[in-house]
Amino acid sequence: MTEIKFPKGFLWGAATAAHQVEGNQNNNWSRWEPTVAKHFAQTASKRLESKVPDWGLIKAEAEDPDNYISGRAVDHYSRYEEDFDILGQLNLSAYRFSIEWSRIEPEPGKYNEQEIAHYRQVITALRKRGIEPFVSLHHFTNPAWLDRQGGWHDKKVIERFAAYAEKLASSFGDSVKYWSTINEPTAYIFMRYLDGVIWPGWPLQENNFIRAQAAKKNFRNAHKLAYEKIKAVNPEAQVGIDHGIVWFEAANFMAKVLPPLLTKLGGAPYLNAYKEHLDYVGLHYYMRNALKFIARPPFVDYEVKNDGPMNDGGFEVYPEGIYLVSQEVKKLNKPMYITENGLPDARDKLRADFIEEHLRWLHKSIEDGADIRGYFHWSLLDNLEWSEGYWQKFGLIEVDRKTMKRTVRPSAKVYGQIAKHNGFNYPER
Ligand code: BGC
Repeated sequence: MTEIKFPKGFLWGAATAAHQVEGNQNNNWSRWEPTVAKHFAQTASKRLESKVPDWGLIKAEAEDPDNYISGRAVDHYSRYEEDFDILGQLNLSAYRFSIEWSRIEPEPGKYNEQEIAHYRQVITALRKRGIEPFVSLHHFTNPAWLDRQGGWHDKKVIERFAAYAEKLASSFGDSVKYWSTINEPTAYIFMRYLDGVIWPGWPLQENNFIRAQAAKKNFRNAHKLAYEKIKAVNPEAQVGIDHGIVWFEAANFMAKVLPPLLTKLGGAPYLNAYKEHLDYVGLHYYMRNALKFIARPPFVDYEVKNDGPMNDGGFEVYPEGIYLVSQEVKKLNKPMYITENGLPDARDKLRADFIEEHLRWLHKSIEDGADIRGYFHWSLLDNLEWSEGYWQKFGLIEVDRKTMKRTVRPSAKVYGQIAKHNGFNYPER
């Protein structure tokens, strides 16, 4: 046994995003889902059967069109008090969630004060339990009007987004200290503008390099302006961005040049352009991929490694990657929070070990100089995994979507004990 202790004041948290848990949305995703649900259900076996380790476990859900419709989600919008009670019972000290822009600004320039009051209550409910809110302003979904106006490749979004950020900063005052402007701009750009394949689809997906470049620039400028607006209202605020990094390796000698290239485009160096306007980096780590050259366009493909246990989605558990990506981000010299890390694991067979193994590597990263101040497991609740739908169970808490009953998974209790003791005894495996 090795005793692993985290620095004093280290934050232990869990994360969610509005569209994935709240229910009853009216945004670009909720409008798009009914147009693709049938297709995703009919093509599920072709897409997944050879990829996932246990097709029998997910077949019924993955082939049901309802799986692809966010609908009531897990009704977190009305059940947040109950969910925060569980957070408290698990000894967690922080909660990352996102605000649904389409609720706050259903029409351009018209703010819905009732919805602002709702999120104010959410923040108060957290503070009452001594839980630090980490508020994200944009997690993949857009108000439908924003897409009509051109979306993220149109530079009007910069002013619009910053005005929305300023409105919330002045509404919440100093009740919120930690703000994140945008969730995973690289995933958004890849999925929306470069025909990406992380999920089966994305609203308005296309392959348009010019728009991808424009969106990249607009994300950056929207972040900067929002950063300035929030700081002008609340100089004590800590404003960051959430960035996901996949650890890339080369599948063969021919592909040796690819990982450094991709690391530069999508890894830590991607954040250099944000550096002057970042109080912290929210880092997401899920997996590694091996890249290879192929003989047809786009000449690059990836291979999922399977040296470790495989999660329900068919991805390898590779804990060392959290060390490798955080050591890369260390070069930016900013405080870091791991704002997402988790896995789909319906039977909860891997999650407890997954958490301990990742935390062990994270701890090593801190020892090796990375200024990591907190860890948020993805996710607090089972939720809508974007266009994969509900069959991927990422929750520390299992949710029965018929009854909305919450059940705390055994791994959540293990995580809760780690949070309570600010560390754990690591059994050499
Ligand atoms: C996203 C989450 C998503 C998670 C698991 C991240 O890229 O921010 O919304 O559910 O990955 O795939």
